[in-house]
Amino acid sequence: MQKVTIFGAGHVGSTAAFYLATQAVFDITLIDAIEGRARGLALDIAQSLPFIGSGARVMGSSNSEDADGSDVIVITAGFPRKEGMSRIDLTRTNAPIVKKIASDAARFAPDSILIVVTNPVDEMTYLAWRASGFEASRVMGMAGVLDTSRFMYFLRESAPLEGELDSFVLGSHGDDMVVLVDSSTFEEKPISEVLSEEILSSCVRKTRDAGGEIVSLLKTGSAYFAPAVAVVTMVLAILGDTGRVLPVSAYLYGEYQLSDIFLGVPARLGRAGVLEVLEISLSERELVSLVKAARAIKKRTEELEGLLQ
Ligand code: LAC
Repeated sequence: MQKVTIFGAGHVGSTAAFYLATQAVFDITLIDAIEGRARGLALDIAQSLPFIGSGARVMGSSNSEDADGSDVIVITAGFPRKEGMSRIDLTRTNAPIVKKIASDAARFAPDSILIVVTNPVDEMTYLAWRASGFEASRVMGMAGVLDTSRFMYFLRESAPLEGELDSFVLGSHGDDMVVLVDSSTFEEKPISEVLSEEILSSCVRKTRDAGGEIVSLLKTGSAYFAPAVAVVTMVLAILGDTGRVLPVSAYLYGEYQLSDIFLGVPARLGRAGVLEVLEISLSERELVSLVKAARAIKKRTEELEGLLQ
């Protein structure tokens, strides 16, 4: 049975464990530093499965050793944003947590693929890569699937679009997110032929602010259903070795003329992790925004190097 370990039994981690358990017969381990939390939630999830008809196994633990033999490790542990905070404000508190988990992952599950969810995600993915010592293709961050899901939701909410919508959100998971409006299509036609410039700009703005809007409504904590579905979408592409192209934070070796950075780009996922980063054709303004996002991430990851000593 393929094994997935999720570090962090907060809302994202536990919802991802639940949704994953409904999808296929996986061996799922939920690990949380708070004694009893992961075990309690794992029992609750496991007890929901008979009527779902799933044969998944769900275990909870507070011990990193229980990640042993995992095929995929998802890192969700860390603090969420509070109202008024940016994702970057979480760097100092979340970096030591991600660093410890990534090195535990390398120790107990040396053949695993890492998916980082903890914010600020592009920077934490870089940190997890460095702390694990894994090849970069086995480490990726979750953001683009979530941001793309949100953009598609806002597009469909703004107009009755019955048909195939194709779009990607790249760049960083924050103010420099790059919503590919110029490259988005509806039924293979450019989306700008279907929706007005005004509607499109409003959907881009709402997508960029979507996480913050939920934080300010919830008061304590941040979004978790859409992030959990995004995580599971990635896990299924990896473990099913499907080759599905999804927007993920992946390491660049010169693609888009960028390197030594984890940035949201379209990537083909499979059993070996990131099989390939796709260089899709972007409009001039999309490319400029992608490079701007990359510069900002690079500056912040350079600052993180100090935390790796
Ligand atoms: C959000 C958090 C998970 O965008 O970053 O909701």
